[in-house]
Amino acid sequence: MALVEELLLQLSNRGILLGSVLMLLLVVYLLLFDSQQKWKEPPGPKPLPILGNLLELDLKRLYLSLCLMSKQYGSVFTLHFGPKKVVVLAGYQTVKQALVNHAEEFGERDINPILYDFNKGYGILFSNGENWKEMRRFALNTLQDFGMGKRGSEEKIIEETHYLIEMFKESKGKPFDTTQPVTYAVSNIISTIVYGSRFEYSDPVFKGMVKRANENIRLTGSASIQLYNMFPWLRFCLKNWKRIMSNCEQNIKEIKVLKDGLQETLNSQESRGLVDCFLVRKQYAEESREKNTLFHEQNLIHTVTNLFAAGTDTTAATLRWSLLLMAKYPHVQNRVQEEIDRVIGGCQIVMEDRKKLPYTDAVIHETQRLANIVPMGLPHTTTCDVHFQGFIIKKGTCVVPLLASVLRDENEWESPNTFNPEHFLDDQGQFVKREAFMPFSAGRRVCLGESLARMELFLFFTSLLQHFRFTPPPGVSEDQLDLTPAVGLTLHPSTHKLCAVTRKA
Ligand code: HEM
Repeated sequence: MALVEELLLQLSNRGILLGSVLMLLLVVYLLLFDSQQKWKEPPGPKPLPILGNLLELDLKRLYLSLCLMSKQYGSVFTLHFGPKKVVVLAGYQTVKQALVNHAEEFGERDINPILYDFNKGYGILFSNGENWKEMRRFALNTLQDFGMGKRGSEEKIIEETHYLIEMFKESKGKPFDTTQPVTYAVSNIISTIVYGSRFEYSDPVFKGMVKRANENIRLTGSASIQLYNMFPWLRFCLKNWKRIMSNCEQNIKEIKVLKDGLQETLNSQESRGLVDCFLVRKQYAEESREKNTLFHEQNLIHTVTNLFAAGTDTTAATLRWSLLLMAKYPHVQNRVQEEIDRVIGGCQIVMEDRKKLPYTDAVIHETQRLANIVPMGLPHTTTCDVHFQGFIIKKGTCVVPLLASVLRDENEWESPNTFNPEHFLDDQGQFVKREAFMPFSAGRRVCLGESLARMELFLFFTSLLQHFRFTPPPGVSEDQLDLTPAVGLTLHPSTHKLCAVTRKA
């Protein structure tokens, strides 16, 4: 009997031991399995060797391919642009969560080959770390000193609206392409802030700088430059790359000439613009033998090229969209003009008037939403391994905040694909802000010129609508005005002409 009891005891002890081991293994397995399940990389289409997912993408309209893919793979997905892994963020909730709630982790710029070629890591747009921080802070402070979002810029913009109105009048109601006058007027605002004075629209140096800056932004969005970003060794056989490089060289030459002129007449007590402020700061760094100062020539030149390009292309394109949309939707134009006539009459429009013009304000916001000027934002990169929405995104992964998917998010907008100013109006016809209105992106790298751009859009748009009726050319119906954007890094209207008919006072 004792023997049997002993045997049973041993067996039960072994059973407990075995059971415990099995339990332990199960726990370890579950932990591992669970963590793998929890922290896998975002899903996406299977990449081919070298080509990645290239064959599934329309390189000319990349943002549309990405919007389509987000329907299949969800709001966070992985893609391979050639050999390069990219994580795409789609929809308002996801983009906001990443750029705002995880601002630090998603806050660096991914500097792909063409972006590096532009600025060699200097300036603001395509730089990181201390360089970016110092240049962004300097530019923001200086732009504010020169009136960004304040009366200073308001006066400059109002002065420029008069030149633009004169240019439009010269067309005498006949069809004309709005690109040049609008771009020159907008460019003159940032030029005044940067250099301290405006240019004549006929100035060949100015015309050249504007043309080259715009051309570079357009070519950067071309299929061949997308390919170059994936396979940089292709550059020597790419016409567009050579063109971009020669434009950059020429722009740098012109900026140096302008800078030298300002240097000769520099008065440290009275800065005329951002370049003067930079030169004074540079001189101080030299005199006090500041070690490792970032106020050097390279940063001056690339900060200026950044502000000039970013400050011209986007705002001018938006303004051109607004005029095209007015010609296409005359009933909306009627309501804008009725509101301006009733509230302002023939007086000079100022920023203070914005709150008294809710419908007009809604039209400007809706233009920005639908025009979707920077559809893929600018590329970001992760500063560390990020755990995001159940996925892991490894440090140094390129992240695309797909702004197009935010501005047309079906969960946020009542009619995402149509021009509908009511998106920004309440039942009483008052202007309402919408969270998903994110054309300037958000978070740490949010557009530095947002308040300047908003002021420009309001003052230029309202002044033009106060003076002119915009219509399609004779023989062209409103329906025939094409809203398909031209290909580029930023989305411009396709080439078109409009008539600006002077309104009776
Ligand atoms: C309608 C007009 C404009 C739109 C839609 C726009 C949009 C944007 C967007 C989407 C970005 C990328 C933000 C990101 O990386 O997440 C950006 C960056 C930037 N924008 Fe604008 N922008 C406009 C006007 C301007 C103006 C007028 C200026 C010049 C004062 C400007 C200067 C910049 C700069 C310097 C950056 C780089 C910020 C950084 O990397 O820290 N932008 N803008």
